[in-house]
Amino acid sequence: MNTPIILDGKSVAAAVLDECRAEVAELLAKGIKPGLAVVLVGEDPASKVYVGSKARTCADLGFYSLKVELPAETTQEELLKVVRDLNADPLIHGILVQSPPPRHINEEAIIRALDPRKDVDGFHPENVAKLVLEDPSGFVPCTPAGCMKLLEVSGISTSGAEAVVIGRSMIVGKPMALLLVGKNSNATVTIAHSRSKDLPGICRRADILIAAVGRPEMVKGDWVKPGAVVIDVGINRVPDATKKSGYRLTGDVAYEEVAPLCAAITPVPGGVGPMTIAMLMKNTLQAARQIGTPC
Ligand code: GUN
Repeated sequence: MNTPIILDGKSVAAAVLDECRAEVAELLAKGIKPGLAVVLVGEDPASKVYVGSKARTCADLGFYSLKVELPAETTQEELLKVVRDLNADPLIHGILVQSPPPRHINEEAIIRALDPRKDVDGFHPENVAKLVLEDPSGFVPCTPAGCMKLLEVSGISTSGAEAVVIGRSMIVGKPMALLLVGKNSNATVTIAHSRSKDLPGICRRADILIAAVGRPEMVKGDWVKPGAVVIDVGINRVPDATKKSGYRLTGDVAYEEVAPLCAAITPVPGGVGPMTIAMLMKNTLQAARQIGTPC
């Protein structure tokens, strides 16, 4: 039985955060304290956990951290005002509005209202364009940036590889595909999704398979080419009566049957999740540098 390399996002994220600490010290010496505002609307339990860890990591790095928690009934206008106020706040370099917001909120309009220079999620159309153009002054969405970093640090070459991304979201799938095909990576990329014909067959072509669908354990053993590298972006809560919380976390990949086939695989939890937060910190430092330094 093959023993895959477990891509340890926790330790790679810790190394990225150490680099961040050094950069915070440099910025503080120039009188710039990086500031991140995280906005959460409503009570989604998973979002609360994510927002909590983002704020904690900020505090740990010595950032100015502002957590804005708003009730689920917050109106579009009220949320727009919060965003505009944060755009104008000189202590804030990065703004993140946790997704998904409640259904009555028009998320796209909120994203468009963000100052693109503070859009550390990389969701604003100006940053999406910069990603397409490979302009490094833009912000790369944190989860795909974290996946790329994990591949790079683990010495996995993407150049010329067949990469398949399952999922076409603006948060993960599309930016992931752009990064993989870009000139720093040079993979051949397929984006697959729920309407793709013969999804297992498409996935079996992949040297590098990225699962970002949000469906627990959808990717089975017979979807994976032996020797592939599998990156599992899913963080799904599934009921589990043996846990105190009543649930366990599982990815989009059926880990037990897929792992023995792979050259390398990310675990859930402890794979992509910690990388996302580390890249958010890096993006906030980029914003602080770009806003804090006169052009
Ligand atoms: N929800 C899940 N992932 C993300 C993310 O990277 N950014 C934001 N704003 N919301 C999310």
